[in-house]
Amino acid sequence: MKKRGQSEIVAAAYDEGAESYRKNWNAPHPWMEDSRREFASRVSAGMTLLDVGCGPGHDSDYWTKKGLKTLGVDLSPKTIEMAKSSYPSLDFRVADILTLREAENFDAVWMAYSFLHIPKASAANLVRSIGRLIKPGGVFFVETSIADATREEVRPIAGLTDGAGRKIEVPYTFWTVAELNDLLQPAFAVEWSKSYTPDDRPPPVWAGIMRRGPKKL
Ligand SMILES: C[S@@+](CC[C@H](N)C(=O)[O-])C[C@H]1O[C@@H](n2cnc3c(N)ncnc32)[C@H](O)[C@@H]1O
Repeated sequence: MKKRGQSEIVAAAYDEGAESYRKNWNAPHPWMEDSRREFASRVSAGMTLLDVGCGPGHDSDYWTKKGLKTLGVDLSPKTIEMAKSSYPSLDFRVADILTLREAENFDAVWMAYSFLHIPKASAANLVRSIGRLIKPGGVFFVETSIADATREEVRPIAGLTDGAGRKIEVPYTFWTVAELNDLLQPAFAVEWSKSYTPDDRPPPVWAGIMRRGPKKL
């Protein structure tokens, strides 16, 4: 039998838990206010935005209301169905960010809590993909879990349960801040960052806003 890749495993987990995830997370995360404020100060109405791992679509909706032309993409077809039914006028598509090719189409990329499902071995590929998707000078936001050592695990995600209320486990990568910086710096210049523990509930996270340089990637 063919071995399933991480994207297939993650897509199946979020398909199974799509209802529960939307029920639990149906609005922009309240603890991300600083991140939204910093991002908003670097983008303006009319710009194009890619919301990577958009989940139920609440951030796509938020940034569309701020005047950005937003495309939300997610691996999970059921999750995209949910997003479309919650926000029918918005643009959502099933796509794997690791294989999405739309060269230099976006002024900005927003990646909230989806980087954590990218395996360590694919992270450099992800950074190159994002680098190609963003226009030179464009803005890239990431918020993702951190730890004292970079490591991969399979673990439950807050709010993701099956029809019987059982927690669904998903492949998950924790990064050290130093390794994240090493990974991102070749393509992006970090302009703002913050490490914190949302609502005092571990794991801690790193939020960073970067700008793509002018060099062709
Ligand atoms: C924890 S949820 C975050 C959803 C939303 N951004 C939020 O902040 O609530 C992670 C989402 O990322 C999506 N995802 C994970 N890996 C992805 C990939 N390679 N390409 C696109 N979406 C991905 C999952 O399907 C899931 O919907």
